[in-house]
Amino acid sequence: MIFPTSASIDESAAAVSSSVVNAWNEWDPLEEIVVGRADGACYDPAEPGYRPILRGLTQPGEVFPTGPKPADVIKRANEELDGLTALLESQGVVVRRPDPIEFDRSLSSPEFTVDSQYCSVCPRDVLITVGNQVIEATMSRRARFFEYLPYRSIVREYWDRDSEMIWTAAPKPSMADHMYRKEFWELDVDERYARMHDFEFCVTQDEVVFDAADITRMGRDIFVQESMTTNRAGIRWLRRELEPRGFRVHAVHFPLDLFPSHIDCTFVPLRPGLVLTNPDRPIKENEAEYFSDHGWQFVDAPEASSTNDQMPKYCQSSRWLSMNVLSVAPETVICEESEKNLQRLLEALGFNVLVIPFRSVYEFGGSLHCATWDVRRTGGCEDYFDGSVGIVDGR
Ligand code: NVA
Repeated sequence: MIFPTSASIDESAAAVSSSVVNAWNEWDPLEEIVVGRADGACYDPAEPGYRPILRGLTQPGEVFPTGPKPADVIKRANEELDGLTALLESQGVVVRRPDPIEFDRSLSSPEFTVDSQYCSVCPRDVLITVGNQVIEATMSRRARFFEYLPYRSIVREYWDRDSEMIWTAAPKPSMADHMYRKEFWELDVDERYARMHDFEFCVTQDEVVFDAADITRMGRDIFVQESMTTNRAGIRWLRRELEPRGFRVHAVHFPLDLFPSHIDCTFVPLRPGLVLTNPDRPIKENEAEYFSDHGWQFVDAPEASSTNDQMPKYCQSSRWLSMNVLSVAPETVICEESEKNLQRLLEALGFNVLVIPFRSVYEFGGSLHCATWDVRRTGGCEDYFDGSVGIVDGR
């Protein structure tokens, strides 16, 4: 069904409402989700699109490890991922898990080689459900080129069970040297700060590039962060893919985030009209107006439970993983156990807050939102922005 571009979106959405694949936003009541697994995970290798760093105290000469992560580290992460699975099941949610694959295998394409791959802890980075459509992202890093594979049998099963489901794999980029801007890594903080409004990061504009975790869904409006992992060509591809189906696709920017990747520690919609925002990374002014003009409110996340240096040594994410919450319903949110300030704020906002330990997962790429991919939520497509024509680009 092709959406008309008129205001009759509700009628159209009802027509494409699917029995298996159906998720239009980040907060509707959750029915089915995929939770990642840590089996076979490797340390993230350095590559043109990525430079892993060590956190906290380091020994002289200490370097970032390579190859498979130790068994006990994987075991602890798996215990927390299993804990999330059990919690979701206790809420009546169907939980699926990816197939194990061997990440400790080098890759060699006509354009690149990489010594190992990464892991299947963060399906959020790889796949997104937009209504009745599942989109497999292009990905932006060589070690993650094949990260769709652990999910393929699940996607195929959904496609078999749901005749309305649309399965789309975005074009794979070459990930050749010329796709990356090597000098990005050499810029010091002052230079980055001076250039923050250029929004030029480690990936050039030559190819279509996006990670699914740079996207957030609010019904008819889809917001995509321009970042180290998503370029303007990637956003154009998403726009051309989704706008004929009735969506409005907006590029969004957070100029003070000098190393942006993945929107879900920066701008986290909690329910219609309310976004949890990152006080260090405000959204660009004209983009903020799109929300305020339509009655939305922003609430800043409180201080996280740790500083960046107190994050696990091999974790590549900031302390703002505190904000990486997973909504089970418009009034129910899962939050990491140690994030007491955020729990208090969410309760004051009227949420029922479920808590769970998840810090052992952090060094595998994220927290509760990252480690999941929601496949079905009760509800259809709503227009939360009142038939707007979209953000007026002030660049
Ligand atoms: N790049 C984000 C993490 C997203 C999961 C951050 O470090 O805040």
